[in-house]
Amino acid sequence: MADRDGGSFAPTRHNRQWRLAARPDGPVKDSDFSLVESVVPEPRAGEFVIRTLYLSLAPVMRQYMIDGAGIERPMSIGDVMYGRGVGQVVASNHPGYRVGDVVHGKLGWQDYAVSDGAPDKLMFKVRATDLPASTALGVLGITGFSAYVGLLDIGRPKTGETVLVSGAAGGVGSVVGPLAKIAGCRVIGLAGTPEKRAMLTERLGYDAAVDYRSPDLGRAIEAVAPAGIDLFFDNVGGPVLDAALEHINRYARVVSCGRISQYVSGHSYRLANWWRIGRQRAKMQGFFVYDFVDRFPEAEERMAGWIREGRLPYIEDVLDGIERMPAALRRLFEGQNMGKQLVRVAEPLDLG
Ligand SMILES: NC(=O)c1ccc[n+]([C@@H]2O[C@H](COP(=O)([O-])OP(=O)(O)OC[C@H]3O[C@@H](n4cnc5c(N)ncnc54)[C@H](OP(=O)(O)O)[C@@H]3O)[C@@H](O)[C@H]2O)c1
Repeated sequence: MADRDGGSFAPTRHNRQWRLAARPDGPVKDSDFSLVESVVPEPRAGEFVIRTLYLSLAPVMRQYMIDGAGIERPMSIGDVMYGRGVGQVVASNHPGYRVGDVVHGKLGWQDYAVSDGAPDKLMFKVRATDLPASTALGVLGITGFSAYVGLLDIGRPKTGETVLVSGAAGGVGSVVGPLAKIAGCRVIGLAGTPEKRAMLTERLGYDAAVDYRSPDLGRAIEAVAPAGIDLFFDNVGGPVLDAALEHINRYARVVSCGRISQYVSGHSYRLANWWRIGRQRAKMQGFFVYDFVDRFPEAEERMAGWIREGRLPYIEDVLDGIERMPAALRRLFEGQNMGKQLVRVAEPLDLG
């Protein structure tokens, strides 16, 4: 299942690159980026060239622009914007990659990337070639793997439990819900618009959806989860996390995946209800998806199987054209994206 936006995009023989022009101060602005045309790279010995098909958008990218987010080498002004993409190998001097292979990895915001396939590039061959290439950035990419390891390895859901998910209509959250349903749980999603909440219950199998901007969020959660929350998968942090803590059950697990509500302000919200963790003998744990790289093959194989069986719906929000990358990034912070935010850069070539 995929949502497509009918914008314009044109194939290119140049290498268009989005570069960092200024570090964001507040919301990201067009002037924080510059679009330049460069030459298409040639592979040296041990290298291969990837032609980008889709690029992924993630909230962490804003932080990459500032200090690398503690994950990446801090960017210099003029660097190609960091980001993952999926693409076709179009030239190769690397024994492990052939022309026509479809890979996802750290391609950067550009039409063509060159790689040596070193482990730190986190380059993976797409194995589910029967499914759309875009899935390698969403449900079958780092986004889906975050949902998989966060929910299953950290959250450890049990059949019959009640799971609450914040940011439920976003990239990660839109995968957590269906996975929790497969695990036999009752699943409630928090999302910001009526359209998103309808998407959760009508298309993603959520049992209930709640507006996290409700004047009394605690009461709104209680209304749909009168027996409390056994597992909270949190993408948002701040007051939403505080409200959820009020309703956790004994031995609950709180999975701290992200805290997008705090990213732009830089403000660190002080929790009032942290004491509920102790009172309820609960556990709160964060995780970093790349620490689970050895789990990705299992996650990919199982989730691809569930997609083929029709048990794992997924939603992509696709804009057309690399020129729309900055606007696509802004959509995450403005709450405009429904499901995984992607930009389609090019159609696949027939390299057979
Ligand atoms: N731990 C890890 O290894 C890991 C890996 C991947 C992602 N993450 C984190 O997981 C979270 C989700 O990532 P994603 O890529 O799937 O992004 P995403 O959920 O698609 O992010 C965009 C959504 O966040 C919500 N949002 C934006 N500003 C908000 C605010 N101030 N308060 C509440 N909600 C807000 C909006 O939905 P509404 O309309 O519903 O507000 C928006 O549509 C992020 O925090 C990300 O950093 C962590």
